[in-house]
Amino acid sequence: MTTTILYVCVTCRGTPPVDAPRPGARLLAEVEKRLAVGGSEGIDVVPANCLSNCPRGCSAAVSGSGKWTYVIGDLDPDRHAGDIIDFARLHRAHEQGVPEWRDRPEHVRKHTVARVPPVKPAALPQEQS
Ligand code: FES
Repeated sequence: MTTTILYVCVTCRGTPPVDAPRPGARLLAEVEKRLAVGGSEGIDVVPANCLSNCPRGCSAAVSGSGKWTYVIGDLDPDRHAGDIIDFARLHRAHEQGVPEWRDRPEHVRKHTVARVPPVKPAALPQEQS
């Protein structure tokens, strides 16, 4: 099973905007705290500087090698850290990174901003005879 990457935008200012501490940084801290307690097997958390979803921040993205990528918005650091962790676990468990719709946390179902197809693997070099 491949590793799933959970990108958390640490520069999001939330709604209404707050400068310090940034709600995105608070979301990252909450995600890291929960994974430290509940286990982070197969999930790497990576801070990101802007996922280009600023009007609908806080934002996070869930991705993995050869899998679909999901961008999720409207995240509240006080309410949704568990939702994106749950979705990251479902994403990791699915071969193509496409968890069943009904299994996804409600916030993820309603606030997925985009999904991006997997990057096509590079062509193998031609064999030499
Ligand atoms: S600052 Fe977070 S998406 Fe732009």
